[in-house]
Amino acid sequence: MVSRVIPVDPFDLVIFGATGDLARRKIFPGLYRRFRDGQMPEEARIIGAARSEMDDFGFRKQVAAALDEFVPASRRDEASVVDFLERVGYVAIDATGTGGWDALAARMRKETVHAFYFSVGPSLFGALAERLQSHGIADPNSRIVVEKPFGRDLASAQELNATLAEHFEERQIYRIDHYLGKETVQNLMAVRFANILFEPLWNARHIDHVQITVAETVGVGGRGGYYDKSGAMRDMVQNHLMQLLCLIAMEPPYRFDPDAVRDEKLKVIRALEPVGSEDIVRGQYLGHRRKDGTSVNSYLEDVGNPASICESFIALKVNIANWRWKGTPFYLRTGKKLRARASEIAVIFKEPPHSIFGEDESWSPNVLTIRLQPNEGMNMTVMIKEPGPGGMRLTEVPLDMSFAEALGEDGTDIPDAYERLIMDVIRGNQTLFMRGDEVEAAWAWTDPIIAGWEAREDKPRKYDAGSSGPEDALMLLHRDGRRWREIRE
Ligand code: BG6
Repeated sequence: MVSRVIPVDPFDLVIFGATGDLARRKIFPGLYRRFRDGQMPEEARIIGAARSEMDDFGFRKQVAAALDEFVPASRRDEASVVDFLERVGYVAIDATGTGGWDALAARMRKETVHAFYFSVGPSLFGALAERLQSHGIADPNSRIVVEKPFGRDLASAQELNATLAEHFEERQIYRIDHYLGKETVQNLMAVRFANILFEPLWNARHIDHVQITVAETVGVGGRGGYYDKSGAMRDMVQNHLMQLLCLIAMEPPYRFDPDAVRDEKLKVIRALEPVGSEDIVRGQYLGHRRKDGTSVNSYLEDVGNPASICESFIALKVNIANWRWKGTPFYLRTGKKLRARASEIAVIFKEPPHSIFGEDESWSPNVLTIRLQPNEGMNMTVMIKEPGPGGMRLTEVPLDMSFAEALGEDGTDIPDAYERLIMDVIRGNQTLFMRGDEVEAAWAWTDPIIAGWEAREDKPRKYDAGSSGPEDALMLLHRDGRRWREIRE
C-alpha cells in the first residue's frame, strides 16, 4: 500500500528559535523528509530566525549537520539535501528588540502562505506576535505555531491565550501537541469512527477499564531545570495523556473537522472528575551503580536539586462523569527511566454476561491495544477453542496488526509527528492542534490536583531506574481487582 503524497501550497515558513534543539532534532529533519517525498513544492522557503549573527550559508551548514545527525542515512541523499538547503535562509533577529525585523519583512513573499513557528520559550510568544504585526510581516492568512508548555497552570495559560489573541485570531493559532501527530493516535479516530465494530461496545456497559501508558527509558537529560519545575503531571499528563484520553473517550464528532473534533474533546475534559489523593501515585527514580562500575543517575542528581519533591512518574485513576463512561475508570501512567520505552492504550472489555463453558481458568478478557511506539500497531485478543482434541478448552489468541507491516514498509518510513503537523499548518488544518479553550480546560482540571499534593506536601515514592515505577502504582489497580499491563517493548 503506497501512501499518497499531496503537495501543499507554496509557503514561507519562519522558524524562531531555529538554532535550538527542537529545530535541529525534529523540525528541519521533518521538513527535509517532506521535501524528499515531494510534498513540499519547489517554491517553498524556510527562514531560520535566532539571535546569533550568521548568513544563509552559515545556517545551511548547521541545518546540513542536523540532517546528518537526525535523518537516517537510508532516508537521505546528497542531491535532495542540496536542493532542500537552497530553500533555507536565515535572519538574525532580536525577539524583544528591533534588530532584524525589517530584514525578515523584506524576505517574505507575497502570494504565499506565511507560517511562523515559535520554537522558543513562552515568555517570547507575546513579543514575537506583536512584532510580526507591527512590522507588517503577518497578514490575515498567516499562521503561528506555538510549542508546549502552554502555560504552567490555568492562569498562565489564560494570560498566554490573551496575549496571542491581541495579535492573532484563534483560527491562526496552532498549539502543538506532538502526540496528536503520531500515526497511531490519528488511527485511533479512524478505528473508532470508520468501523461499525467498536462503537456499540464503546461504553461503560462493555468496557471494564482503560489503561494509558507512556513509559520512557530516558531520564530528564539536559532539561532538568525545566523539568524540575514541571514534573510528569505538567510535562506529560496535562497535554499528551489528556489528548489520548480524549480521543478514546469522546463522542463521534459530526464530521472530521477542526472544531467538530475539538468540541467533542473539550466535552470530555470538562466531564473529568476531580482526582482525590487516594487515586494518585507520584514517583521519583533512584540511581544505581552498574556492575561495570558506571552509574545511572538518580532524579535528584539529574536535576541537581537534592531537595526536589517533583515527580518523574505519575499514575492516576481518572473517572469521566458522563453517560457513556460512568463506572469505567481510566488509569493513566507515565514516567521516566522506566524498564522499557513503550506507549500504549489498552481497552479492557468486560466478561460476557454468562459463560456457557463454565469456569475456565484460561479465560481472559478481550483487550484492544493500540501501540503508539515503538512498533506502531493494534492488537485485539480474542478467545478461541484451544486447537486439538482436548475438549472445549479456551485459549487466547491475538489478532495483530503492525502498521508498518500492513503498509508494506519496513517501519522506518512512518512520518514523524512533527512533519505531519507542520504540513497541516501549511494546509490550514487545525484538527490536530489544541484550541485555546481546550488547553485552559485541561489546566482547570490539572491545577487542583497539583494544588492538593502541594498543600499536603506529598513526597513522591522512590522507584528504581529501570523498573515499572513505584510499588504503590501497582496497588492503585490491585485494590480495584485489576492489574497493569506489563511495560515492554
Ligand atoms: C515531550 C516531553 O513533550 O514529550 C518530554 O516534554 C518527553 O519530557 C517527550 O520525553 C516524549 O515524546 P515522545 O514522542 O518521545 O513520546
